[in-house]
Amino acid sequence: MLVAIVSSRSAALLTLFGALVSPAFAVPVEPMVATPDGLRPQANIHAIPIGGSISHIGSDVHILAADGTVTHIARNAGTRSATAALAKKTKREASGWVAWTGWLNTGLSPVSTFTSTWSVPPVPVTYNSQLLYLFNSFFSYDAKAIIQPVLQYGVSPAGGAQGHWAVASWYVTATSGFHSSLVNVSVGQVLNGSLSLLAQNGSTYDYSSEFVGIPGTLLVVNNGPLLPGVSKTLETYGATRKSDYPTGTTVFSNTDLKLESGAAPGFVWNITNDAADGHTAQVNVAGATNGEVTIVY
Ligand SMILES: *[C@@H]1O[C@H](CO)[C@@H](O)[C@H](O)[C@H]1NC(C)=O
Ligand SMILES: *[C@@H]1O[C@H](CO)[C@@H](O)[C@H](O)[C@H]1NC(C)=O
Ligand SMILES: *[C@@H]1O[C@H](CO)[C@@H](O)[C@H](O)[C@H]1NC(C)=O
Ligand SMILES: *[C@@H]1O[C@H](CO)[C@@H](O)[C@H](O)[C@H]1NC(C)=O
Repeated sequence: MLVAIVSSRSAALLTLFGALVSPAFAVPVEPMVATPDGLRPQANIHAIPIGGSISHIGSDVHILAADGTVTHIARNAGTRSATAALAKKTKREASGWVAWTGWLNTGLSPVSTFTSTWSVPPVPVTYNSQLLYLFNSFFSYDAKAIIQPVLQYGVSPAGGAQGHWAVASWYVTATSGFHSSLVNVSVGQVLNGSLSLLAQNGSTYDYSSEFVGIPGTLLVVNNGPLLPGVSKTLETYGATRKSDYPTGTTVFSNTDLKLESGAAPGFVWNITNDAADGHTAQVNVAGATNGEVTIVY
């Protein structure tokens, strides 16, 4: 699992604070884990019960069981400082998005559906405790939230194991991560990652994420912020050699994106590649209907 990284300045402050309080006790550093939207405090990761949902209520996020009972209230404000400081200091590791295509919808009609299919890649030849994520997403560019059907390799905060690929839907806010059940998938299995806008009420939005046909992966978020960004992303942590990645490429195919108005928007994918990592995202078929993007490892 990921080890917490602390900037030298905050480390110095923590040391000073530790010395003032008591030289005998180290100040505990909040353990951080790598969600599919960067590092969040381990204590703020929550599994959503099957059939349950998430609801933004004021500045909190409620977790509801299938029968509507509130099972947990996650504070969604006031704890971001550690995360933000960390993200600034170690931006690349903190976000982990090494190759992705994105589009920001600035039009009046929100994106209502976004589906894409891809095959579970071969298992990487070497294991270095690396964590790989592949997903499509709806997200806000101001880092408020993201919803994403995620294929993972390795051990994530949702579980998993060396040598195994698994899927779950995630909803990650500035402070917390929420995930569906994690379900094992096999090499070569074709996945259909599906995102939908379920409803809009004033300035709040209900979204869902699931892998079509894989029970347990549905995640529903109610009363959340508008998520006007869309992406297809390779995100990685701890992979240091080429053999820590699958061989070949992953092709996101059958990409269909529709607006609430029913229209397929005209847009150009914005490509972001982290050159230092050597991975690239390439657009084979542009556009919102039957589009195709290849991730090269
Ligand atoms: C998923 O695979 C892992 C690793 O083999 C295994 O430990 C776990 O039991 C599997 N989970 C299910 C639900 O089959
Ligand atoms: C993926 O699932 C959606 C339903 O969410 C469906 O409309 C679409 O046809 C599926 N794509 C493929 C290629 O099967
Ligand atoms: C829509 O939002 C308003 C105010 O935020 C709330 O009073 C109302 O119950 C909501 N309607 C639905 C259908 O959720
Ligand atoms: C487009 O990609 C560039 C880097 O390639 C990035 O700096 C910029 O923020 C991206 N814009 C959007 C809207 O994603």
